[in-house]
Amino acid sequence: MNRVYIKTYGCQMNERDSEAVAAMLRGKGYSVIENEQDADIVLLNTCSVRDQAEQKAIGKAGHLGKRKRKNPNFIIGVMGCMAQNRGEALLDSLPDLDLIIGTQKFHRVPDHLSNMIATMQGQGPRPESIVDLAEELDSQNTIKSHVDDKPQVTAFVSIMQGCNMKCSYCIVPKTRGAERARPMEDIVKEIEELAAKGTREVTLLGQIVNQYGIREFPYVDKKSPFVQLLEKVNAIEGIERIRFTSPHPVGFKQDLIDCYARLPKLCEYLHFPMQSGSDRILKAMRRPYSIERFRRIIDQIREVRPDMYISTDVIVGFPGETEEDFELTRKHFEEIGFDMAYLFKYSVRPDTTAEPLGDPVTKEQKEERNQVLLQILAKRSLQRNESLIGKVEEVLFEGPAKKGEDMFIGRTRGNRVVIVKASTRLIGQIVPVRFNRVTASTLFGELVLEGVESELATVEL
Ligand code: SAH
Ligand code: SF4
Ligand code: F3S
Repeated sequence: MNRVYIKTYGCQMNERDSEAVAAMLRGKGYSVIENEQDADIVLLNTCSVRDQAEQKAIGKAGHLGKRKRKNPNFIIGVMGCMAQNRGEALLDSLPDLDLIIGTQKFHRVPDHLSNMIATMQGQGPRPESIVDLAEELDSQNTIKSHVDDKPQVTAFVSIMQGCNMKCSYCIVPKTRGAERARPMEDIVKEIEELAAKGTREVTLLGQIVNQYGIREFPYVDKKSPFVQLLEKVNAIEGIERIRFTSPHPVGFKQDLIDCYARLPKLCEYLHFPMQSGSDRILKAMRRPYSIERFRRIIDQIREVRPDMYISTDVIVGFPGETEEDFELTRKHFEEIGFDMAYLFKYSVRPDTTAEPLGDPVTKEQKEERNQVLLQILAKRSLQRNESLIGKVEEVLFEGPAKKGEDMFIGRTRGNRVVIVKASTRLIGQIVPVRFNRVTASTLFGELVLEGVESELATVEL
């Protein structure tokens, strides 16, 4: 009765929340397993950002309901953003759900599960579903450290929760609540513990990560709380790489740009959502910046670190996006030269300020615009990777590759995926690799053993 399988939809924040729930459950004696079929309990950590994301989770939950009808002791839980967004109404179409747990209540999952199991063992009628969606003061601090028994080479660390922006298309402020920062000391302590257990790379997470602590903590020496935090993380022994996601042009000031020159652990990789290249559409999206301001920030960072890798988010087909608007997006997207991008087709979300605008751009137009950007991206990404052939870069090895014997996967500082023949002893190590073959998404190569510490040079390949 204690094997749990957690399936995660959505963003890195959800992945991190799932890891935290898994760690808490392990601490309570549950075994968190990789194979859904063997599970007694399945938890879906859901996303609401687009309709498609919700439909996937609803479909999955419906499927699991069939399993429950055969085995009444099987437990199905839905947590995260869709649980928060749809709440109890989910039971209308999914009556088999046992738990519906909101985004401020992840830390309550173990208690709710044990109550549910105890009631089931009482052999009475089927227990009532548990719905827990309330706001909770300081919930950004309730999932403390997720430092559990499983060492992680790379780790996500939530530094804040929620979002105070009002982007007209976005449901996140509704599902995640108001912006709240975790105390700097807590974050630093969590990362120190991760480092002590072998973590080499951290990604700091927040909806507008560079706004971290802006209301809670003061500027020091003209440095924002986020920059102060980056400095502290940069000083942690054992941590070799720092990333963060997602920053916003609002508050992306000189103090943060300077970090790219000063903080050696800050990777030359930035995920920087553009959303649109048309000022008219940015305004309708209520994104408070112009495309010129957005580009200026990228130029400034590239002045400091010319080898920067930049990725972005773009929404195509926002209501009212004309061919001219899209042409601006296409132009800026191409000129900026993103190395990676997440391209989204606009999806109407309930209770957002864009909802009344409907969804006038057709599916076909969205698909066409999506394809135009995808092709630009594929070309640029391949060109950039080809420029690396014959070159050597440091790769942090994360684990075995999905395919191929003795093949291992790692990443460059620019966040490029690398696949190399290596040995398990390299997991968690940063090792130089010479690239000899590339695709648009992956670099292949071989370890460069000269100059590597003797211990590594003896690795059997
Ligand atoms: N806080 C981050 C974004 C988080 S949501 C930021 O502001 O940069 C991740 C991405 O999903 C967004 O950047 C946006 O591109 C996309 N997205 C959000 N709502 C959407 C919607 N209604 N339709 C399509 N894409 C959406
Ligand atoms: Fe959504 Fe905008 Fe907040 Fe990002 S900044 S989570 S897009 S409301
Ligand atoms: Fe993330 Fe989706 Fe929620 S993008 S914050 S899981 S709505």
